[in-house]
Amino acid sequence: MEFLVTHQTVEHFDGDCAVAFIIEGLAHQNSDLQQLLEINQFDAKVGETLILNRIDGYKAKRVLAVGIGESPVTDKNYLKSLKAIYSALASAKAKNVVFPGIEIENRDESWVQLTTARVLQNAIYQIDKVNSDDSTEKNTLEAVSIYSENSDASNVLKGVAIANGMALTRKLGDLPSNICTPSYLAETAKSLAKNYKLECEVLEESDMEGLGMHSLLSVSKGSSEPGKLFSLSYKNAGEDQPVVLVGKGVTFDSGGISLKSGAKMDEMKFDMCGAASVLGVIKAVAEMKLKVNLTVVVPTVENMPAHDASKPGDVVKSMSGQTVEILNTDAEGRLILCDALTYCSKFSPKVVIDIATLTGAVIIALGKHHSGLMSNNQSLADDLKEAGIDAMDTAWQLPLDEEYDELLKSNFADMANIGGREAGTVTAACFLARFTKDYRWAHLDIAGTAWIGGSKKGATGRPVPLLTEYIMRQT
Ligand code: BES
Ligand code: MN
Ligand code: ZN
Repeated sequence: MEFLVTHQTVEHFDGDCAVAFIIEGLAHQNSDLQQLLEINQFDAKVGETLILNRIDGYKAKRVLAVGIGESPVTDKNYLKSLKAIYSALASAKAKNVVFPGIEIENRDESWVQLTTARVLQNAIYQIDKVNSDDSTEKNTLEAVSIYSENSDASNVLKGVAIANGMALTRKLGDLPSNICTPSYLAETAKSLAKNYKLECEVLEESDMEGLGMHSLLSVSKGSSEPGKLFSLSYKNAGEDQPVVLVGKGVTFDSGGISLKSGAKMDEMKFDMCGAASVLGVIKAVAEMKLKVNLTVVVPTVENMPAHDASKPGDVVKSMSGQTVEILNTDAEGRLILCDALTYCSKFSPKVVIDIATLTGAVIIALGKHHSGLMSNNQSLADDLKEAGIDAMDTAWQLPLDEEYDELLKSNFADMANIGGREAGTVTAACFLARFTKDYRWAHLDIAGTAWIGGSKKGATGRPVPLLTEYIMRQT
């Protein structure tokens, strides 16, 4: 699909379809169109669509009227209407379409262009059925033109790059764990390195032994899939300290000896969505050629029960030298992240942000709307919250007071890997905070936002929009 910007008004577009946003309670300036809307009792509720043929004043074959709610138009309503437009265009099998300019409350033209491109490009993502010839109907939309006063295409290109990053994130998330193994993720990193000229380093289990990453290795050892830890670096800002993103890459989380129950266990193939998101971000950043330095680090393992798996009560020594009593082998994410976070110091990071499907508790606290955010630095937390609002991929901050940290007390090691039933999302972050004392750090718990279940089961590509927005603001 191709995106173009045009400074011709939509009336001049002589392709398949021109979009007309209809504000609730406000007559459209084209009287022919307005008359037809009235005849059809179109009341411009958000996301309502109507296709009309050959309207006077439009050169396009058809006009797609889209309800966008009352004035002033909100960004949330705009997003809903974009999704409705995409489905209407798909069912109409339109090949090309033009979008008029639109005024949205508290948003500027560049936001509208970037968001329009990102949402439409993201909408064409299709899940590939594994090893099947069943070719789901391919999307017919070939070209999208977006009105712009100054014909500047840069925002549209950014939107497309972000959606392309999200597509990688979604694809990796959707792949089953018998294909998307730790080795598969490492190969994906290598091919990104080749395509975008990134530096890539892959540590094998023997390398991690040498570094003393016994916490990470304690999770990996119950699986016949070898664990890995890899890093990818994009450098386009001289000697600037890099932003470092760390993504949890548990390619399947059975719980280990603390085995999970059967319901929805298949969804634990999504337990590498943190890893998938940081790969999506570095792809988007490289595609945009942003003037930043960015490193992503991925610890990746499979968490399985086996005769040689970790057992509740086992004690391991992390790379930092701190010891951990593993009271629950299902709290494995923090065990692999803590060693990756210690490893990060070698990049002299400007900030470190880890992204992890870390706790079921964050779904109880925040549902599917916001990712959980915790940080040891308030201005970093504020920057991430703002980036999330701008990208419509929001995060909600939870506390990180030391009172919570006391719940990690262990009689047999420096800390336990669980804190009990209370505040599970916060105690998980408290655990990580013990390994991030040397730098500004934030933690995004994406267990509620990285994928959706049910009939539309699949990865969402979040929080790639939030993170790319945060990085774009570093330039
Ligand atoms: N990957 C899970 C978290 C998770 C659970 C994400 C359900 C999405 C849906 C994580 O490894 C885990 O198992 N966490 C435990 C922690 C507990 C043992 C302290 C949890 O949340 O139950
Ligand atoms: Mn687990
Ligand atoms: Zn997990």
